[in-house]
Amino acid sequence: MNGRPFLQIPGPTNVPERVLRAMDRAVIDHRGPAFAALVRGLLPDLARVFQTERGRVIVYPSSGTGAWEASLVNVLAPGDRVLAFDHGHFSAGFAAAARNLGFGVDLVPLRWGQSVPASAVAEHLRPEHRAVLVVHNETSTGVRSDVRAVREAIDAKRSDALLIVDAVSSLGSMDFRFDEWRVDVALTGSQKGLMLPPGLGLVCASPRAVEVAAKGGSPRNFFDWRPILEDNAAGFFPYTPATLVLFGLREALDMLLAEGLDQVFARHHRLAEGVRAAVRAWGLGILCEEPGAYSDSLTAVVMPEGLDSNLLIARARDRFDLALGVGLGRLRGRVFRIGHLGALGELEVLATLGGVELALRECGHAVALGTGVAAAQERFLVTERTAAEAGLRA
Ligand SMILES: Cc1ncc(COP(=O)(O)O)c(C=O)c1O
Repeated sequence: MNGRPFLQIPGPTNVPERVLRAMDRAVIDHRGPAFAALVRGLLPDLARVFQTERGRVIVYPSSGTGAWEASLVNVLAPGDRVLAFDHGHFSAGFAAAARNLGFGVDLVPLRWGQSVPASAVAEHLRPEHRAVLVVHNETSTGVRSDVRAVREAIDAKRSDALLIVDAVSSLGSMDFRFDEWRVDVALTGSQKGLMLPPGLGLVCASPRAVEVAAKGGSPRNFFDWRPILEDNAAGFFPYTPATLVLFGLREALDMLLAEGLDQVFARHHRLAEGVRAAVRAWGLGILCEEPGAYSDSLTAVVMPEGLDSNLLIARARDRFDLALGVGLGRLRGRVFRIGHLGALGELEVLATLGGVELALRECGHAVALGTGVAAAQERFLVTERTAAEAGLRA
């Protein structure tokens, strides 16, 4: 017995008890009125999380990888070219998905750990590009890119390229403004900020994207959003939906909207600041070197010289049932990732940091126990100045 498991990978995240209970029920008829009422309530609330009034949300029984495919095949025609950036495992993966589907991809290599600079969009965007692919929060490196600046760079080139944004590890935990940033297609999965088990891929499409898809796109079947949008109007799907996960989604949306999106983002920022303070106190590096691009949903920590992150991760798992994220792709062994997104509070972050410290020491790294935890506690301390922000009396 090790107490509760600590799932501190950057997704899947902890599923709150309330959400688990909401899914613990009999499956209902997905062609009946109760299900239609559920779906008709979910779609406008999902739109609120994407911060859109003009976008249409489409829910697939898939993972984020399926949502990648959906975001591409509906709006791109065979032979279309896109501009993409390689600055981490997922941005490279999104570009590879486009290439595998037969689209031409101009891939701009960047340092893994860097954000997408608007200047790179300005430099590489050409009239033949039909879309620009951006990962808002690169989950392999803990780097947030400035989607608004990318949009402005597209506009400055007078390009009509669609802006397609992967918001898999940002939606529901970091500020993502579909309408304000004039995103054309955004996508996410259920297992991160939405606090659900894996199983849903979600896409949000702008009126322009819906129009492009209505007239064109690629040969497609399962991911064709046209019949889904049609059936959704009455609360149904053209296939068997993930009924129970949708009941969980209802509960998760109620939780997010009751907390308020601004509070959700502020909580994630506070937790992230605590983790970053701990990493600095340990004398370790944060892979993201641009403070303005720090991710508030995860931190990729650079390993001390001579210590493989897989050893640390195995130690944390075996000793404490603490799951930390591995280094992906070329970062294998070089970083470990602490997920601090979803249903999470300060005490859970402190426990996680305490576990990382113990595991680091037991792996032979001379970190002074308690230093990271104390640094995070300092960030979490409610002072007179921060009391108002936190909604507490001093
Ligand atoms: C940014 C990003 N995009 C895409 C994916 C792929 O999603 P999935 O694993 O749900 O297919 C992930 C998964 O972690 C991700 O973090």
